[in-house]
Amino acid sequence: MVEVLNGAVSSFHEIDLPVLLKQALDKHNFFIPTPIQTQVIPLALQGKDILGSAQTGTGKTLAFAVPLVAKLLDEPNASSALIIVPTRELAQQVTNEIRKILSQNFLLKIALLIGGEPIFKQLNQLQKKPRVVIGTPGRIIDHIERKTLMAHNVSTLVLDETDHMFDMGFGIQIKEIMKYLPKIRQTLMFSATLPDDIVKLAEKYLNQPERVFVEHEVTTSTKIKQEIVYTTESEKYGKLITQLSHRVGSIIIFVKTKQGADQLAYKLGKDNYSALAIHGDLKQHKRERVINSFRRGCNQIMVATNVASRGLDIPRTQHVINYDAPQSQVDYIHRIGRTARAGAEGYALFFITPQDKRRLPALTDKKGELNFDCNVKFKKLGSKKIFKKPSALKTKHGRKKINTFKGKSRALEKVLPSIF
Ligand SMILES: Nc1ncnc2c1ncn2[C@@H]1O[C@H](COP(=O)(O)OP(=O)(O)OP(=O)(O)O)[C@@H](O)[C@H]1O
Ligand SMILES: [Mg+2]
Repeated sequence: MVEVLNGAVSSFHEIDLPVLLKQALDKHNFFIPTPIQTQVIPLALQGKDILGSAQTGTGKTLAFAVPLVAKLLDEPNASSALIIVPTRELAQQVTNEIRKILSQNFLLKIALLIGGEPIFKQLNQLQKKPRVVIGTPGRIIDHIERKTLMAHNVSTLVLDETDHMFDMGFGIQIKEIMKYLPKIRQTLMFSATLPDDIVKLAEKYLNQPERVFVEHEVTTSTKIKQEIVYTTESEKYGKLITQLSHRVGSIIIFVKTKQGADQLAYKLGKDNYSALAIHGDLKQHKRERVINSFRRGCNQIMVATNVASRGLDIPRTQHVINYDAPQSQVDYIHRIGRTARAGAEGYALFFITPQDKRRLPALTDKKGELNFDCNVKFKKLGSKKIFKKPSALKTKHGRKKINTFKGKSRALEKVLPSIF
């Protein structure tokens, strides 16, 4: 793996982990721990509480999952782990990541408790006495209050995307859940961004925590090429089409509203782009279909609200487009963090209108440069338009599909020579 992932420990085999876990890590090509994993895993194995942060896409999931699984394998009693995350899609993803490293340990059952899914399916999983429970705050407290989830044997608690959960108002539910957990337990909290106020708030739930902070000169990955497109509301869609025609690979386009996501995906579909929208108003099975289709590369574009901005790991995402401005620098960091993961390269594009500049003065400085402390030079793009419709293919389901893996277009190199 590339240097972004290389930590001080040169192999997972140098860490004192159960053999079965080491075999599972090998099987999935996890050989060298990332810096956050190098620092967190040994501390977590000692039972320490941890408040951890590191850039997006640098392996925070395994940083908590590896010691958690190691602990459960070493403690063949009834103790269990509870992992709370802000969104259903992230809960599913974390579940899959943990399944990978559980490998052949069929005795360690997992339960996934998320909203929008039939409760009976979850009751089935809970009856099997899962040792790992992963879910979103609302559904977890729901099960605890129904007494279908017994929280008294939770020995490890993980809060992923901690700042977001508190920002979204899940603090109340998290506080409620905490009441049912044993006082003596290990608590691990993670996010790429942990502002001071959240750290203070979160520390209430931690016991003499170790603050593990993988420092980087910049908050966003230097592997992300960030660009700005200055535009107006009326020209925005045309400029988006220009940009799309230059780009190969999977693209996430972030918009502000659920309705905006549906409308943009529809418009793009009419223009022969294979775009699907994802947002919180969709039924759960539809949300899953959209994510899975995007993961498999069946549709090139996913138009998303912030529901997809945190934690999602879709390795082939080459571009993130902020079609509507994010509300804050933190939002921006997480949105663009959907690309350039695990040391890969990616591109982030930011559409800014005069209204955005007025509405969000903190976004840009007087010269119009982004005011974020990313330390990355933003480049203004020329206004030269090259309209080139991408070739459309029919899938077996009759949907149009873009050939995402064609070579880079010449037009692109002409317009953006210094960026690509
Ligand atoms: N040690 C490793 N070796 C190789 N790949 C790894 C390693 N650890 C994690 N990865 C891969 O890196 C990718 C990003 O990991 P992960 O989703 O845990 O990042 P993250 O730090 O949680 O990001 P975010 O802040 O966006 O949530 C995943 O595809 C994961 O499988
Ligand atoms: Mg994560």
